[in-house]
Amino acid sequence: MRTILTALAATGLLSAAGPALAQDVAAGEKVFKKCKACHRVGDDAKNGVGPILNGVIGRPAGSVDGYKYGKGMQQAGAAGLVWNEELILEYITDPKVFLRTYLDDPKAKAKMVFKFKKEQDRMDVLAYVKTFSPDAEASAAD
Ligand code: HEC
Repeated sequence: MRTILTALAATGLLSAAGPALAQDVAAGEKVFKKCKACHRVGDDAKNGVGPILNGVIGRPAGSVDGYKYGKGMQQAGAAGLVWNEELILEYITDPKVFLRTYLDDPKAKAKMVFKFKKEQDRMDVLAYVKTFSPDAEASAAD
């Protein structure tokens, strides 16, 4: 964990996360409409362009049954990447830079091609996604 945070700080990704902003679940539900093009949450969620995001916080990367992840994400999961809030915030800022940094592989490809530029949007959408991750509190502790 320390290694990736240090590496991300070096790329400037981490500092882009800046000081903690207040998170707003209702605003996050609206932002999630953008994620919904590819991801679903809730009881009847199914994998689409991207994997379902129920329980994503605390889950090993690339581990949803029946979803075919890109090679980079499979490698990151095999290398021990487990999603927590901080890592998801960095991932959705720029999935490709995140995977390349995590894998230390300048050629790694990200199957998720969307970048979320606005910090407040990222914070809010995460607050919403977290409501579908019952284990989130436990993972926040580590
Ligand atoms: C254009 C489609 C698209 C959009 C929009 C999108 N994603 Fe993704 N997302 C993907 C794909 C495809 C993957 C699988 C990545 C891989 O296999 O490399 C993914 C993977 C993820 C993962 C890792 C999941 C896992 O099981 O390891 C998270 C977390 C995630 N997305 C969050 C988000 C959030 C939050 C949003 C909205 C802010 C979002 N994504 C918007 C396509 C998208």
